[in-house]
Amino acid sequence: MQKTSEWLMSFRTQPLTQSRPAQFIQRQHSAIKVSITGGKGGVGKTSVALRMARELGALGQKVLLIDCDTNLSNTAIKLGLPLDDSFFKLLSAEKSFEDCVIKREHFDLLPACNGNVELFESRLALDEIIIDIIRAHEDSYDWILLDCPAGLDRVSLTLNAWCDHRVIVVTPDKSSITDSYSLVKVLQNRFGIKENHLLVNMIQNDRQFQKVVMTLSETIENYLGCRTHVLGGLHKVDIAAEQFDTFFLSGDGSEWHKKFLKCVQQFAEKWGVGTQRAALTTEQEVH
Ligand SMILES: Nc1ncnc2c1ncn2[C@@H]1O[C@H](COP(=O)(O)OP(=O)(O)OP(=O)(O)O)[C@@H](O)[C@H]1O
Ligand SMILES: [Mg+2]
Repeated sequence: MQKTSEWLMSFRTQPLTQSRPAQFIQRQHSAIKVSITGGKGGVGKTSVALRMARELGALGQKVLLIDCDTNLSNTAIKLGLPLDDSFFKLLSAEKSFEDCVIKREHFDLLPACNGNVELFESRLALDEIIIDIIRAHEDSYDWILLDCPAGLDRVSLTLNAWCDHRVIVVTPDKSSITDSYSLVKVLQNRFGIKENHLLVNMIQNDRQFQKVVMTLSETIENYLGCRTHVLGGLHKVDIAAEQFDTFFLSGDGSEWHKKFLKCVQQFAEKWGVGTQRAALTTEQEVH
Protein backbone atom coordinates (compact mmCIF):
# COMPACT_ATOMS: atom_id res chain seq x y z
CA MET A 1 0.00 0.00 0.00
CA GLN A 2 1.22 3.48 -0.85
CA LYS A 3 2.43 5.54 2.12
CA THR A 4 0.47 8.71 2.85
CA SER A 5 3.58 10.85 2.46
CA GLU A 6 4.28 9.36 -1.01
CA TRP A 7 0.70 9.93 -2.00
CA LEU A 8 0.93 13.58 -0.94
CA MET A 9 4.11 14.05 -2.93
CA SER A 10 2.57 12.55 -6.02
CA PHE A 11 0.39 15.58 -6.65
CA ARG A 12 3.04 18.17 -5.88
CA THR A 13 3.27 20.76 -8.65
CA GLN A 14 5.67 23.55 -9.50
CA PRO A 15 4.98 26.93 -7.93
CA LEU A 16 2.59 29.10 -9.91
CA THR A 17 4.36 31.63 -12.08
CA GLN A 18 2.12 34.52 -11.08
CA SER A 19 2.77 34.32 -7.36
CA ARG A 20 1.66 37.31 -5.40
CA PRO A 21 4.56 38.79 -3.40
CA ALA A 22 4.51 38.39 0.35
CA GLN A 23 4.57 42.19 0.71
CA PHE A 24 0.94 42.11 -0.40
CA ILE A 25 0.15 41.25 3.17
CA GLN A 26 0.50 44.46 5.10
CA ARG A 27 0.87 44.40 8.85
CA GLN A 28 0.02 47.72 10.36
CA HIS A 29 -2.54 46.59 12.89
CA SER A 30 -2.59 46.17 16.61
CA ALA A 31 -4.70 43.06 17.30
CA ILE A 32 -3.11 39.70 16.52
CA LYS A 33 -5.10 38.11 13.71
CA VAL A 34 -5.38 34.33 13.64
CA SER A 35 -7.28 32.21 11.14
CA ILE A 36 -8.62 28.83 12.20
CA THR A 37 -8.54 26.92 8.99
CA GLY A 38 -7.79 23.55 7.41
CA GLY A 39 -9.16 22.97 3.94
CA LYS A 40 -11.38 20.02 4.80
CA GLY A 41 -14.90 20.31 6.17
CA GLY A 42 -16.04 18.94 9.52
CA VAL A 43 -12.60 18.65 11.13
CA GLY A 44 -13.42 20.88 14.10
CA LYS A 45 -12.44 24.38 12.92
CA THR A 46 -15.48 26.18 14.33
CA SER A 47 -15.36 24.28 17.62
CA VAL A 48 -11.67 25.11 18.04
CA ALA A 49 -12.22 28.76 17.10
CA LEU A 50 -15.03 29.16 19.65
CA ARG A 51 -13.16 27.47 22.44
CA MET A 52 -9.92 29.30 21.64
CA ALA A 53 -11.77 32.63 21.75
CA ARG A 54 -13.18 31.69 25.12
CA GLU A 55 -9.85 30.56 26.57
CA LEU A 56 -8.02 33.68 25.40
CA GLY A 57 -10.82 35.76 26.86
CA ALA A 58 -10.56 33.87 30.13
CA LEU A 59 -6.84 34.74 30.18
CA GLY A 60 -7.87 38.40 30.30
CA GLN A 61 -7.48 39.09 26.60
CA LYS A 62 -9.94 41.13 24.55
CA VAL A 63 -11.06 38.82 21.78
CA LEU A 64 -13.22 39.14 18.68
CA LEU A 65 -14.24 36.02 16.77
CA ILE A 66 -15.44 36.61 13.22
CA ASP A 67 -17.39 33.87 11.49
CA CYS A 68 -15.94 33.86 7.96
CA ASP A 69 -18.09 30.95 6.83
CA THR A 70 -20.21 33.77 5.53
CA ASN A 71 -23.34 31.97 4.39
CA LEU A 72 -23.08 28.69 6.34
CA SER A 73 -22.30 30.26 9.67
CA ASN A 74 -22.11 27.81 12.58
CA THR A 75 -20.77 29.87 15.49
CA ALA A 76 -24.16 31.17 16.66
CA ILE A 77 -25.73 27.73 16.17
CA LYS A 78 -23.12 26.08 18.37
CA LEU A 79 -23.68 28.70 21.07
CA GLY A 80 -27.45 28.26 20.88
CA LEU A 81 -27.99 31.86 19.74
CA PRO A 82 -30.77 33.00 17.40
CA LEU A 83 -29.81 33.39 13.73
CA ASP A 84 -30.40 36.56 11.75
CA ASP A 85 -29.17 38.45 8.70
CA SER A 86 -27.30 41.18 10.55
CA PHE A 87 -24.04 40.22 8.86
CA PHE A 88 -25.46 40.93 5.41
CA LYS A 89 -26.80 44.25 6.66
CA LEU A 90 -23.31 45.04 7.95
CA LEU A 91 -21.79 44.15 4.58
CA SER A 92 -24.32 46.32 2.78
CA ALA A 93 -23.78 49.16 5.28
CA GLU A 94 -27.36 49.08 6.58
CA LYS A 95 -26.17 48.23 10.10
CA SER A 96 -23.14 49.18 12.13
CA PHE A 97 -20.55 46.80 13.55
CA GLU A 98 -21.82 47.60 17.04
CA ASP A 99 -25.35 46.58 15.98
CA CYS A 100 -24.12 43.21 14.76
CA VAL A 101 -21.49 42.10 17.25
CA ILE A 102 -22.62 39.86 20.11
CA LYS A 103 -20.90 40.46 23.42
CA ARG A 104 -20.29 37.20 25.31
CA GLU A 105 -18.75 36.76 28.73
CA HIS A 106 -15.23 36.12 27.42
CA PHE A 107 -15.28 37.31 23.81
CA ASP A 108 -17.18 39.24 21.17
CA LEU A 109 -18.67 37.33 18.27
CA LEU A 110 -19.52 38.53 14.79
CA PRO A 111 -21.67 35.74 13.38
CA ALA A 112 -22.44 35.48 9.67
CA CYS A 113 -25.44 34.39 7.59
CA ASN A 114 -27.18 31.10 6.95
CA GLY A 115 -28.39 30.65 3.39
CA ASN A 116 -28.98 34.34 2.76
CA VAL A 117 -30.07 34.58 -0.89
CA GLU A 118 -29.07 38.23 -1.28
CA LEU A 119 -25.59 37.40 -0.05
CA PHE A 120 -25.46 34.38 -2.36
CA GLU A 121 -26.37 36.55 -5.34
CA SER A 122 -24.19 39.50 -4.40
CA ARG A 123 -20.81 40.14 -5.92
CA LEU A 124 -19.35 41.61 -2.78
CA ALA A 125 -15.61 41.28 -2.31
CA LEU A 126 -16.03 39.59 1.06
CA ASP A 127 -12.33 39.29 1.80
CA GLU A 128 -11.81 43.02 1.32
CA ILE A 129 -14.89 43.92 3.35
CA ILE A 130 -13.92 41.62 6.23
CA ILE A 131 -10.40 43.08 6.24
CA ASP A 132 -11.91 46.59 6.29
CA ILE A 133 -14.12 45.61 9.24
CA ILE A 134 -11.08 44.23 11.08
CA ARG A 135 -9.00 47.32 10.38
CA ALA A 136 -11.74 49.58 11.62
CA HIS A 137 -12.10 47.76 14.95
CA GLU A 138 -8.86 46.01 15.72
CA ASP A 139 -7.63 48.71 18.06
CA SER A 140 -10.31 47.54 20.50
CA TYR A 141 -9.01 43.96 20.62
CA ASP A 142 -5.90 41.97 21.55
CA TRP A 143 -6.85 39.05 19.31
CA ILE A 144 -9.10 38.68 16.30
CA LEU A 145 -9.86 35.07 15.39
CA LEU A 146 -11.30 34.12 12.02
CA ASP A 147 -13.34 30.93 11.75
CA CYS A 148 -12.66 30.01 8.12
CA PRO A 149 -14.82 27.83 5.88
CA ALA A 150 -13.73 24.57 4.32
CA GLY A 151 -12.35 24.71 0.80
CA LEU A 152 -9.78 26.73 -1.09
CA ASP A 153 -11.87 29.66 -2.27
CA ARG A 154 -10.28 33.01 -2.91
CA VAL A 155 -11.91 34.79 0.04
CA SER A 156 -10.74 32.22 2.54
CA LEU A 157 -7.23 32.05 1.10
CA THR A 158 -6.81 35.81 1.15
CA LEU A 159 -7.98 36.01 4.75
CA ASN A 160 -5.67 33.17 5.73
CA ALA A 161 -2.73 34.85 4.09
CA TRP A 162 -3.56 38.24 5.57
CA CYS A 163 -3.70 36.94 9.12
CA ASP A 164 -0.59 37.01 11.30
CA HIS A 165 -0.96 33.32 12.13
CA ARG A 166 -2.87 30.31 10.84
CA VAL A 167 -4.01 27.40 12.99
CA ILE A 168 -4.59 24.48 10.65
CA VAL A 169 -6.97 21.93 12.12
CA VAL A 170 -6.35 18.48 10.68
CA THR A 171 -7.73 15.03 11.47
CA PRO A 172 -5.83 11.75 10.96
CA ASP A 173 -7.69 10.75 7.80
CA LYS A 174 -5.93 10.88 4.48
CA SER A 175 -8.28 13.41 2.92
CA SER A 176 -7.84 15.90 5.77
CA ILE A 177 -4.04 15.54 5.63
CA THR A 178 -4.11 16.02 1.86
CA ASP A 179 -6.42 19.04 2.05
CA SER A 180 -4.23 20.66 4.69
CA TYR A 181 -1.18 20.12 2.52
CA SER A 182 -3.03 21.66 -0.43
CA LEU A 183 -3.93 24.70 1.67
CA VAL A 184 -0.32 25.20 2.78
CA LYS A 185 0.86 24.72 -0.80
CA VAL A 186 -1.45 27.35 -2.26
CA LEU A 187 -0.72 29.79 0.56
CA GLN A 188 2.98 29.35 -0.04
CA ASN A 189 2.80 29.58 -3.81
CA ARG A 190 0.36 32.45 -4.06
CA PHE A 191 1.16 34.49 -0.97
CA GLY A 192 4.62 33.44 0.17
CA ILE A 193 3.31 32.14 3.51
CA LYS A 194 6.08 30.10 5.14
CA GLU A 195 4.79 29.31 8.63
CA ASN A 196 1.65 27.68 9.96
CA HIS A 197 0.43 26.07 13.17
CA LEU A 198 -0.98 22.59 13.35
CA LEU A 199 -3.65 21.23 15.68
CA VAL A 200 -4.46 17.57 15.17
CA ASN A 201 -8.05 16.83 16.12
CA MET A 202 -9.91 13.56 16.65
CA ILE A 203 -6.84 11.44 17.35
CA GLN A 204 -7.28 7.92 18.77
CA ASN A 205 -3.88 7.73 20.49
CA ASP A 206 -0.52 9.46 20.76
CA ARG A 207 1.08 7.24 18.12
CA GLN A 208 -1.51 8.37 15.60
CA PHE A 209 -0.84 11.98 16.59
CA GLN A 210 2.91 11.59 16.05
CA LYS A 211 2.32 9.94 12.69
CA VAL A 212 0.11 12.77 11.41
CA VAL A 213 2.57 15.39 12.66
CA MET A 214 5.55 13.67 11.04
CA THR A 215 3.81 12.95 7.76
CA LEU A 216 2.47 16.43 7.32
CA SER A 217 5.21 18.60 8.77
CA GLU A 218 8.04 16.70 7.04
CA THR A 219 6.27 16.73 3.70
CA ILE A 220 5.52 20.43 4.06
CA GLU A 221 9.11 21.19 4.99
CA ASN A 222 10.73 18.99 2.36
CA TYR A 223 8.53 19.91 -0.58
CA LEU A 224 7.30 23.40 0.22
CA GLY A 225 10.08 24.68 2.47
CA CYS A 226 7.53 25.79 5.06
CA ARG A 227 7.68 25.49 8.83
CA THR A 228 4.95 23.90 10.91
CA HIS A 229 4.52 24.82 14.58
CA VAL A 230 2.79 21.92 16.30
CA LEU A 231 0.28 23.08 18.88
CA GLY A 232 -0.86 19.66 19.99
CA GLY A 233 -3.42 16.94 19.55
CA LEU A 234 -7.01 16.52 20.74
CA HIS A 235 -8.43 13.06 21.24
CA LYS A 236 -11.63 12.01 19.58
CA VAL A 237 -14.36 12.25 22.19
CA ASP A 238 -16.63 9.25 22.42
CA ILE A 239 -19.86 11.21 22.57
CA ALA A 240 -23.04 11.53 20.49
CA ALA A 241 -22.63 14.18 17.77
CA GLU A 242 -25.56 16.24 19.09
CA GLN A 243 -23.90 16.44 22.52
CA PHE A 244 -20.46 17.42 21.31
CA ASP A 245 -20.96 21.20 21.21
CA THR A 246 -22.13 21.29 24.82
CA PHE A 247 -19.19 19.13 25.89
CA PHE A 248 -16.64 21.11 23.90
CA LEU A 249 -17.84 24.53 24.95
CA SER A 250 -18.29 23.76 28.63
CA GLY A 251 -15.18 23.99 30.78
CA ASP A 252 -15.52 20.86 32.84
CA GLY A 253 -11.89 20.59 33.98
CA SER A 254 -11.38 17.17 32.40
CA GLU A 255 -7.98 16.06 31.11
CA TRP A 256 -9.27 16.65 27.59
CA HIS A 257 -10.13 20.27 28.33
CA LYS A 258 -6.85 20.80 30.15
CA LYS A 259 -4.98 19.68 27.04
CA PHE A 260 -6.91 22.09 24.92
CA LEU A 261 -6.20 24.91 27.36
CA LYS A 262 -2.47 24.07 27.19
CA CYS A 263 -2.55 24.37 23.40
CA VAL A 264 -4.14 27.82 23.63
CA GLN A 265 -1.81 28.97 26.43
CA GLN A 266 1.21 27.84 24.49
CA PHE A 267 0.02 29.74 21.45
CA ALA A 268 -0.78 32.87 23.46
CA GLU A 269 2.55 32.84 25.26
CA LYS A 270 4.46 32.36 22.06
CA TRP A 271 2.85 35.15 20.06
CA GLY A 272 0.92 37.41 22.30
CA VAL A 273 0.73 37.50 26.01
CA GLY A 274 2.50 36.24 29.06
CA THR A 275 -0.16 34.53 31.13
CA GLN A 276 -0.31 33.88 34.85
CA ARG A 277 0.12 30.18 34.31
CA ALA A 278 3.33 28.20 33.90
CA ALA A 279 4.93 28.55 30.50
CA LEU A 280 5.30 25.41 28.46
CA THR A 281 8.77 24.50 27.40
CA THR A 282 8.35 22.60 24.16
CA GLU A 283 5.85 22.58 21.37
CA GLN A 284 5.70 18.82 21.28
CA GLU A 285 4.84 18.57 24.95
CA VAL A 286 1.09 18.80 24.49
CA HIS A 287 -0.56 15.79 22.93
N1 LIG B 1 -12.38 15.95 19.19
C1 LIG B 1 -13.57 15.55 18.72
N2 LIG B 1 -14.15 14.41 19.14
C2 LIG B 1 -15.34 14.01 18.68
N3 LIG B 1 -16.06 14.69 17.76
C3 LIG B 1 -15.56 15.84 17.31
C4 LIG B 1 -14.29 16.34 17.75
N4 LIG B 1 -14.07 17.53 17.13
C5 LIG B 1 -15.13 17.74 16.34
N5 LIG B 1 -16.02 16.73 16.43
C6 LIG B 1 -17.29 16.58 15.69
O1 LIG B 1 -17.16 17.21 14.43
C7 LIG B 1 -18.24 18.11 14.24
C8 LIG B 1 -17.85 19.22 13.32
O2 LIG B 1 -17.12 20.18 14.06
P1 LIG B 1 -17.00 21.67 13.54
O3 LIG B 1 -18.32 22.20 13.13
O4 LIG B 1 -16.24 22.41 14.58
O5 LIG B 1 -16.10 21.43 12.25
P2 LIG B 1 -15.75 22.45 11.08
O6 LIG B 1 -14.39 22.07 10.61
O7 LIG B 1 -15.94 23.85 11.54
O8 LIG B 1 -16.85 22.11 10.00
P3 LIG B 1 -17.21 22.96 8.65
O9 LIG B 1 -16.11 22.66 7.69
O10 LIG B 1 -18.52 22.38 8.24
O11 LIG B 1 -17.27 24.39 9.04
C9 LIG B 1 -18.65 18.53 15.64
O12 LIG B 1 -19.95 18.99 15.70
C10 LIG B 1 -18.46 17.23 16.41
O13 LIG B 1 -19.60 16.43 16.25
MG1 LIG C 1 -17.03 25.45 10.65
